Amino acid sequence: MGKRTARKGARPAPLSAGRVRAGWPGPAGTRIRLARVRDTDAADTLLDMAGVRLMPALRSAIETGTSASVLLAGLGGTTKTFFETAVLAFITQPMPESMSGISLPLVAVAQDEKVVGVLAVTAPGTIIEKALEHGYEPHRALTMGVAVAKVHGLAVAETARGQGLAAALLNRSWQVYEQLGFLVLYGSYDTERDLGAFYSRCGYTVLDPGQGFSLAPIDIPFGIHAGPNECVFTRWRRRR
Ligand SMILES: CC(C)(COP(=O)(O)OP(=O)(O)OC[C@H]1O[C@@H](n2cnc3c(N)ncnc32)[C@H](O)[C@@H]1OP(=O)(O)O)[C@@H](O)C(=O)NCCC(=O)NCCS
Repeated sequence: MGKRTARKGARPAPLSAGRVRAGWPGPAGTRIRLARVRDTDAADTLLDMAGVRLMPALRSAIETGTSASVLLAGLGGTTKTFFETAVLAFITQPMPESMSGISLPLVAVAQDEKVVGVLAVTAPGTIIEKALEHGYEPHRALTMGVAVAKVHGLAVAETARGQGLAAALLNRSWQVYEQLGFLVLYGSYDTERDLGAFYSRCGYTVLDPGQGFSLAPIDIPFGIHAGPNECVFTRWRRRR
């Protein structure tokens, strides 16, 4: 049989849970993988530069090895089986655990396993809260989190910047969420950080300061607002 070569523009092979746990080779000899218990302090130290920390429930989930559990379970199946697994988790687990199960904490580690980059993508807490305010049952509100995810924090150690680590972290997270059928990833930053060019290059649409966006296109009856000094960035799944 002839050697199999990847066609130009072909879709990458589907990801498995094992791949996300073990990771991928990253830029500059790093490895990009799911955060482990020993990474949490270093991840928080880096995230401090982005003005955030790991959410307590997500930190606990990393410590017990259950972060991203719902996402990882979903990678082995179809979008439909992912949705079913997620709804079952939402019905049977408390809300913080459910939210950690659909969150993806990734780190970039150097060859000595030192954490040099971190990206925490989480369930869209603001949207879930709004759904609860609109009278949705908790498990129904949580289903917003199988369509939308939020870039909670991204940071790279000063000594490791400019080598594409942040871009690689964002790309890997997108690959996971896209495979699972998510419709949009979004986040925001303070305008003074001036990260518009960076997020645009990473495939995101950067909105004007103070501009939010509607979720009506995906039948969610509320949107995301931005403060006057806040820039929101979005990446929508392409229609097939
Ligand atoms: C923003 C940050 C995560 C980028 O990390 P990084 O690994 O250096 O980013 P990359 O190497 O993937 O950068 C990709 C490109 O964006 C550019 N870029 C990075 N940070 C930038 C910034 N603050 N302003 C403008 N451009 C920037 C890089 O120069 C690079 O450009 P190039 O491809 O033309 O060389 C890092 O600077 C950081 O940790 N900053 C402090 C925390 C922070 O602001 N986090 C984001 C909050 S939402």
